[in-house]
Formats: sequence, structure tokens, C-alpha cells
Amino acid sequence: MSTPEKLYEGKAKILYKTEDPDILLTVFKDDATAFNAQKRGSISGKGEMNCAISSYLFQELAASGIPNHFIDRPTATEMRVQALKIVPLEVVVRNIAAGSLCQQTGLTLGTILPYPLVEFYYKNDALGDPLLTRDRLLLLELATPDQIEQLQHLALRVNEMLSAFFQRCAINLVDFKLEFGLDRQQNLILADEISPDTCRLWDQTVNDPNRRILDKDRFRQDLGEVAAAYQLVLERVLTQVTTQ
Ligand code: C5P
Repeated sequence: MSTPEKLYEGKAKILYKTEDPDILLTVFKDDATAFNAQKRGSISGKGEMNCAISSYLFQELAASGIPNHFIDRPTATEMRVQALKIVPLEVVVRNIAAGSLCQQTGLTLGTILPYPLVEFYYKNDALGDPLLTRDRLLLLELATPDQIEQLQHLALRVNEMLSAFFQRCAINLVDFKLEFGLDRQQNLILADEISPDTCRLWDQTVNDPNRRILDKDRFRQDLGEVAAAYQLVLERVLTQVTTQ
């Protein structure tokens, strides 16, 4: 077979074309970056763990009626996905105050929000992925009013399902980032990945505010034991999907 054509290489994944124009191959890497790629590193085994976690979560979401791009996982680090036109937005949902929400609003880390917050960021490295208002989304024609409503609705449904799932894993889903794409019929489909790279996950069985962190904040903040934290998430997700 000829070498597949590389479509795009991101910070944590490579996207290849396949022989089928409707299917792409995502290869998950161990590389890690943070703070708009100012901090770089590698987390041993991350590609495999994120590929597995994302695959299980996408299957759980599909079973709950949330359309997403996952097709299958042909190897440990590869995911076959539906080819979509990616919407250049990062849709963030927050349940507990952390990260940029604390930095930008002064809210104390760990404050439980009275309702989930849905935010839109412009997926644009050169601009540093800025937070967008609804008016700016419309101005830049990044989404129509109807699409904004759909994205908000889908993001909240994903949050409900994932929060309940992680609750059963004794993990708090603090916040997470989603990306969406459009299929040929212009339907919004959940895409990208859902993993400790893209979620904040706090272990409910640990009180220490640093030790409870099971996500990329361990890498961002140099807390150590990054791979061990991802492994723990994978084990709990696996236990959950095999016992339900
Ligand atoms: O940094 P911030 O607090 O805005 O991040 C919110 C959530 O979105 C976190 O779970 C973070 O891991 C995720 N995120 C991401 N990719 C980005 C920005 C944020 O996965 N480029």
C-alpha cells in the first residue's frame, strides 16, 4: 500500500487521508505542548492512552445519541474518523472554576459553578485562541445563530453524559474542550478527541489539590507523574465501560 497522504500535523495528533474520501486516520502522538506551544515535551505512552480514552468516550457518547466522528480504532494509537469540515472553534464547558476562568475573572480555583458555562474560543494559534463573544462569532461568520444554538445544546448534552460517566469513575469533570465539524449535509458532528489532554479531571478519592489532578495540568504545572495520571484515568474509564 502507498504511504498515506498527511493532511495535517497538530501538536498531539497527525491526520492522514485514506483510500476512502469520507474517512480519515488520526494518529495520536506522545508529544505534548502547552501555553500555545511555548512549553513542549513528551509524555510516554500518551498517544496510546488518549487514543483509547477518546475511543471509549466517543462510543459512550454515540450510545447516548450524540453524533461524533469516531469509526473505529484499528491500532493502539490510531483512530479512523469521519471526514468533516472542521469548524475553527474550541467549545469549552466548565463545571468548576479552574484555568483561564480563574485567571480572567478572579473566581477561586475549585468554585462549583451554579450552572455549566459554555464558552467559544477562536481556534487560531497566531491570535492565541481568543475568547469570542456571540457577536464576534457572528461578525467573523464562524457560525450562524442556529449553529451557535446547536453547538451550545450539543456541548451541554456532552457535559451531562460525560459528567455522569466520570462521576461513576470517582472523577470530577472540571472542564473540557470540544471541537465540531460539518458533514456533507451540514450537520454538526462532534470531532477531535476527548482525553486528559482536553479535559480537567480531578480524582474524588484524593483531597490534596495537586495530587488529585489527573490531566494535562500535571504537565502544564510541572507536577510530575503525568503518564501515571493518564493511566489511572484510562483504567477507571475501562472499568466503567466493561462493567456497565
Ligand atoms: O485554559 P482553559 O482554562 O481555558 O481551558 C479550559 C479547558 O479546555 C481545559 O480542560 C483545557 O485542557 C481545554 N483546552 C484544550 N485546548 C486548548 C485550550 C483549552 O483542550 N487549546
